[in-house]
Amino acid sequence: MQNIYSSRPYAAITAVGGYLPHGRRTNFDLEQVCDTSDEWIIKRTGIKERRILEQGLATSDMAVMAIRDLCTRYNKDIANVDAIIVATSTPDVLMPATANIIAQKLGLKNVWAFDMNAACSGFLYALDMGSSLVETERYKNVLVVGADNISACVDISGRSTSILFGDGAGVVWLEPSAEEGIIDAFMQSNGGGREFLHIEGGGSLYPSHREGTTDERRYLQQDGKVVFKQAVQSMSHACKHVLERNQLGIEQVDWLVPHQANKRIIDAVGKDLNIQEDKTLTNIEYRGNTIAATIPLCIWENIKLIQKGDLLMLTAFGAGFSWGASLLRWMI
Ligand code: ACO
Repeated sequence: MQNIYSSRPYAAITAVGGYLPHGRRTNFDLEQVCDTSDEWIIKRTGIKERRILEQGLATSDMAVMAIRDLCTRYNKDIANVDAIIVATSTPDVLMPATANIIAQKLGLKNVWAFDMNAACSGFLYALDMGSSLVETERYKNVLVVGADNISACVDISGRSTSILFGDGAGVVWLEPSAEEGIIDAFMQSNGGGREFLHIEGGGSLYPSHREGTTDERRYLQQDGKVVFKQAVQSMSHACKHVLERNQLGIEQVDWLVPHQANKRIIDAVGKDLNIQEDKTLTNIEYRGNTIAATIPLCIWENIKLIQKGDLLMLTAFGAGFSWGASLLRWMI
């Protein structure tokens, strides 16, 4: 099938990897530090447990483990990588980019490596960027990483946020494909959403050394209700838009892979799209919201269900607000 946007080859995912830290934070652990209950959290979010990275390690450490996992599983030689794009909102440090740190840890000295920050939509933004690079034919092997150590920026005693988030990293390898691969992508953002979901401290407006960097600025803050509503509307709209411009019906999609923010958000998007319930992939129950890592981790953990030739719709929503949907044919 011809690439609808150019006569050039498609970019296709040819390998997937993931990493989850060993530390577990259950709902019962949270009951000890804030006024919440296992029953409430399961009912309102579908989450039972999250993985938490140990102190002293950072986002790059999880990303390196995920990339090593990919190379082992798919027999890929890391020396062939031309570019690494890292979607993260929790870089190891402000400078240099976490992608550079990852490249150094992998022994790659001449690779093009950079970060993208689009919060929970980061992986889809980076996937679109990575596939565009491959389509130019100037880059043949591109790693797209989604990794976040968000527990470092969440107040464990704040019940409106600590119940949702966990740490993790996922990665895909992109290569040119004469057959299909990434078919389409639709990304949008609206900075008006900034007031409803943010981490303000540690940047140039509120540097961490300056007085006034309160706990409120140090930690992720959100208006859960606004985010919930926007997330459902935006992800549904993005998926419908992509289906429509590719003249596809929802019944032709084999797997919906939504950002894993809240099981009720996932269910509401599925319902709005009218997709068969068992076609939506999830892993939120034991992972929580791992920000940019949710989509590659969800694919990685459900890999046995996905068959070569399956049509996948990926969709995400996050801070910005930012959101999008990607349509792809699974080629491995
Ligand atoms: N445990 C027990 N009770 C709670 C908790 C809790 N953890 N949190 C809130 N409550 C109480 C409230 O105080 C309220 O009590 P009241 O009725 O007596 O006033 C009641 O439960 C209902 O609270 P709501 O805030 O209305 O609960 P809601 O159903 O909206 O769930 C939640 C809150 C889970 C945060 C939900 O709004 C949500 O998931 N929103 C989306 C958030 C999200 O996905 N953020 C990440 C986006 S992606 C990114 O880029 C980071």
